[in-house]
Amino acid sequence: MVNTKESPVSILEAGMNENARKMLQQVKIVTVIGSGTMGNGICHVFAQNGFQVHMMDINQKALDKAMVTIGKNMERQVSKNIISEELKNESMARITTFTEMVEAVKDADIVVEAASENIDLKVKIFQQLDQLAPERTILATNTSSISITRIGSYTKRPGKVIGMHFMNPVPVMKLVEIINGYATDVDTSNLIHALTLHLGKTPCIVNDYPGFISNRILMPMINEAVLALQEGVAGVEEIDTIMKLGMAHPMGPLQLADFIGLDTCYSIMNVLHMGFGNQKYAPATLLANMVQAGFYGVKSGEGFYVHTPGSKELVVSERFQNKGWKI
Ligand SMILES: NC(=O)c1ccc[n+]([C@@H]2O[C@H](COP(=O)([O-])OP(=O)(O)OC[C@H]3O[C@@H](n4cnc5c(N)ncnc54)[C@H](O)[C@@H]3O)[C@@H](O)[C@H]2O)c1
Repeated sequence: MVNTKESPVSILEAGMNENARKMLQQVKIVTVIGSGTMGNGICHVFAQNGFQVHMMDINQKALDKAMVTIGKNMERQVSKNIISEELKNESMARITTFTEMVEAVKDADIVVEAASENIDLKVKIFQQLDQLAPERTILATNTSSISITRIGSYTKRPGKVIGMHFMNPVPVMKLVEIINGYATDVDTSNLIHALTLHLGKTPCIVNDYPGFISNRILMPMINEAVLALQEGVAGVEEIDTIMKLGMAHPMGPLQLADFIGLDTCYSIMNVLHMGFGNQKYAPATLLANMVQAGFYGVKSGEGFYVHTPGSKELVVSERFQNKGWKI
């Protein structure tokens, strides 16, 4: 249950708030800023649920790649009988791409920002959005760790700024963590809650503290797994197998870290460490070293495991094999 002392919003009920349902009917155009891993998935889901989607990125190649990815992902849904060919074609036709923010947001009802995780970049984007989007437009961010209150404070509409944290891969994952900034209005929160339900996802509302809930709990677990490896308590396979078979996790923490990106894990641990000022959140030295050396996991080809494109085989990096780890 959300802490009602800090947030006036307390809508964890399964149904939609009636006023929000009416507001939702007014939402026609959704602009998504950033067309990378998360942005293209967010566009996919909005388009499939009947919204006109404006997908904006500063990089035309990223937009082209995103359209190909969305097409392939929808094709896979067709082949699995999740959607019809007709819905796929209609959904694709609802997506328009933009490289200029001014055009992308001028008639947007809701903006979801999914650009790179960098506080200075997000502040700049929100200042631009505040100037260019209509006054009524809600400005949501998909940030994994940056304070919603802080982002909102750079706009003249902090009541309309909110966190809408989708999970990766967006078309598959059910959860949307909704983060109310300190100044977020109840109406904004209710509308994003209703919108999330409309997208067929499950909303959970939380307050704005470092890491929110998802990463406040997930990242220290990953960091603890790295610390255990660093201390030589067990090897990569043992740590991941214990968490998979012992705790029924679908993936071990080290494998998951490779998927998320070790750079991302490191930066979120730093947000927790600085935000709470508590030593228990200090990133493991091994994690810091791997990031500094460019071993990011899947995206760089090697982390705790070696990742070969096209192969699903789990191969532990040589550095961590035979317990003679080089750390
Ligand atoms: N990857 C994940 O698993 C995950 C999960 C949840 C949340 N997030 C969050 O989602 C956001 C996006 O992450 P991602 O993994 O999709 O990143 P990404 O690097 O795959 O994509 C970011 C995109 O933003 C674009 N971009 C950069 N500056 C821009 C600007 N000024 N205007 C428009 N576009 C711009 C880039 O060209 C790139 O295409 C981040 O805030 C991240 O923390 C990521």
